[in-house]
Amino acid sequence: YPSEHQIMIDAHELLGKLYHHLLLNTKEGAGALDYLLSRGFSPEGIRKFKIGYSLPEWDMAVKYLTKRGFKEEELENAGLIIKKENDDGFFDRFRNRIMFPLFDTKGRTIAFSARALESDDSPKYLNTPETAIFNKSSLLYNYHEARSEIRRQGYAVLFEGFADVISADQANVKNGVAVMGTSLTNEHIQLLRRLTDTIILCFDSDQAGIEASNRAGSMLVEKGLEVKAALLPKGMDPDDYIRKHGTEKFRTDVIGNSLAWTAFKLHYYRFGKNLKNEGEKLKYIEEVMNELSKLDNPIERDLYIRQIAEEFSLSLEVLEDQQKKLVQAEG
Ligand code: CTP
Ligand code: MN
Ligand code: MN
Ligand code: MN
Ligand code: MN
Repeated sequence: YPSEHQIMIDAHELLGKLYHHLLLNTKEGAGALDYLLSRGFSPEGIRKFKIGYSLPEWDMAVKYLTKRGFKEEELENAGLIIKKENDDGFFDRFRNRIMFPLFDTKGRTIAFSARALESDDSPKYLNTPETAIFNKSSLLYNYHEARSEIRRQGYAVLFEGFADVISADQANVKNGVAVMGTSLTNEHIQLLRRLTDTIILCFDSDQAGIEASNRAGSMLVEKGLEVKAALLPKGMDPDDYIRKHGTEKFRTDVIGNSLAWTAFKLHYYRFGKNLKNEGEKLKYIEEVMNELSKLDNPIERDLYIRQIAEEFSLSLEVLEDQQKKLVQAEG
């Protein structure tokens, strides 16, 4: 790293340690610690992920870091402090928030994601902006820790939120990573590819989550990776699920029951449709038939066509006929 990058990293490392100390050992941090413990973060998890707390003060980081020799301009470039509008000094970007350090592939702190304590404090998560050392579209949360586990287990679990990664880690699913509130990018895929060719998607079970799974999964399939999807009860995310049903059920019933990609697509087309409605049912069958025509494996195709025929009491001959036409059109 050029030395100006090393300075930015040093500032993050130092400030991250202070945030962590404030959370664990001070009365100012007690409320934040209570919040984390009450939502199921374990003391070990808090230590492993070096979670911290930023004080409500406007200039804690400014003072702490300039006293230790960092220049205001360096801290501003690092995204840690912001210039006041009247040009009269600087103030801290992160105040009164739970601080999650973001690590680079070598485990060095290069940014923060900061969660509000109150649910009405918006935004819920405030991230470091793009800097010379932090590019959020190429960072996978927990990549550096999960790397060896992904290799060992032969697959990665991709979550939508980093709270899910931490919960899963506590549930002994240690091969989990998450994007930082962006869509999956080719850079993310490159990082995953170095370690494995199999990804299990485990996104939130809401409209946004299922759409994101579909987009991420399609990209991964296109790049030749094997993709599965682990489904949760409607309205839950992995972290909610683990809290409600425990770690064992998460491993066996959720991760262990992951759907193959085609089965996920069937679920995806079904999501939000009322299949008792004639029009929506026909639309669903059409979407599924189109999807199946893209399959390379005729046995797999046959399997799903039989399922559809059975579920909707349709003639297998009619579906097979229709499928033949679609496959020919696919070329
Ligand atoms: N995110 C963000 N800004 C927001 C909301 C979300 O950057 N205002 C990103 C975060 O990286 C978060 C991810 O999107 O991890 C998933 O969002 P969401 O499902 O809303 O967050 P959870 O991980 O469920 O967080 P929590 O359980 O703390 O509410
Ligand atoms: Mn530079
Ligand atoms: Mn979500
Ligand atoms: Mn979520
Ligand atoms: Mn959540």
